[in-house]
Amino acid sequence: MTPTSPARLVYGCMGLGGDWTPGPVTPAAIDQAAAAVEAALSIGVGVFDHADIYRFGKAETVFGEVLKRTPGLRERIEIQTKCGIRLDADHAPYDLCTIVARVDDSLARLGVDYVDTLLLHRPDPLLEPADVAVAVAQLHAAGKIRALGVSNMSGAQIAFLQRESPLPIVVNQLEMSLGRRDWVDSTVLVNHPDGASNTFPHGTLEYCASNGVRLQAWGALAQGRYSGAPTRTAAEEAASAVVTTLAEAKNTTREAIVLGWLMRHPARIDPVLGSSDPTRIRACADAAVQAAAMTRDEWFALYIAARGRPLP
Ligand SMILES: NC(=O)c1ccc[n+]([C@@H]2O[C@H](COP(=O)([O-])OP(=O)(O)OC[C@H]3O[C@@H](n4cnc5c(N)ncnc54)[C@H](OP(=O)(O)O)[C@@H]3O)[C@@H](O)[C@H]2O)c1
Repeated sequence: MTPTSPARLVYGCMGLGGDWTPGPVTPAAIDQAAAAVEAALSIGVGVFDHADIYRFGKAETVFGEVLKRTPGLRERIEIQTKCGIRLDADHAPYDLCTIVARVDDSLARLGVDYVDTLLLHRPDPLLEPADVAVAVAQLHAAGKIRALGVSNMSGAQIAFLQRESPLPIVVNQLEMSLGRRDWVDSTVLVNHPDGASNTFPHGTLEYCASNGVRLQAWGALAQGRYSGAPTRTAAEEAASAVVTTLAEAKNTTREAIVLGWLMRHPARIDPVLGSSDPTRIRACADAAVQAAAMTRDEWFALYIAARGRPLP
């Protein structure tokens, strides 16, 4: 997948594995994961997103069980995982200095020899790019990771890491959706008073586009607030109504419109789907088709309704 190839759906595994407590996985959690993975595969998803912390490691463990049940699946998909956040109370919350051990633990839970892409989950204020580079080189030389990505990082932070990194940084995963629009507002509100409170790091989209870094959107469904889950504000209600109108007019699902809005953006954003409900996963199937068919007027109608105020 090159940086310029079209946006594609990624399946996010944070909802798999049972509750957010350490411990063994249950047969029911493995069955739930198998059904979600089957639904994702049925709509053409080929990339599965993990993190070592999801459900205290249980997301990776149930996924490993699904791989065991499905001969040949590992070779047909890409797996990415993340490290850099620690949930254990007696440890610093952010940690990018124990990457090798974290990846070894993820590989053991997943029951695989390698992950396709390792993402550094969050910026660590004590991060030393040269130390990260040593760990990444060691993992790559051992065949345990094939590519490197980051998450929740600005363009400047990626550039800083890239100076030392032995591998190109090929992914940046950020929260982006119809509900989380600071990334697009930041490109519109340059030199405008309304942009004063926008904290999205300017230039990040442009850095990624210029340097072969694919954008992945976490929270892409906005937790369903535009496709059937309860809305929280008048703007969400209004945008949800626009989504429904477009979905009916185009004979598609609301999920496909919500994701199509993201994928229509020229930054080529890959939405990461977080639903573990097979019906909702299948409802995303039409997203790329809807992105390709979405007119400029429709895109702006959704954006402005979700903003809840006109553009300057
Ligand atoms: N890099 C990071 O820092 C980061 C942070 C968070 C997440 N992620 C990744 O991104 C993925 C997606 O993130 P996300 O889970 O926050 O976002 P999401 O896909 O926007 O939301 C999924 C959640 O919303 C619920 N939902 C969706 N549609 C719904 C509807 N119509 N009615 C009721 N509930 C609905 C789902 O419940 P059901 O399961 O019942 O459908 C699920 O709990 C995660 O799986 C993970 O892989 C990355």
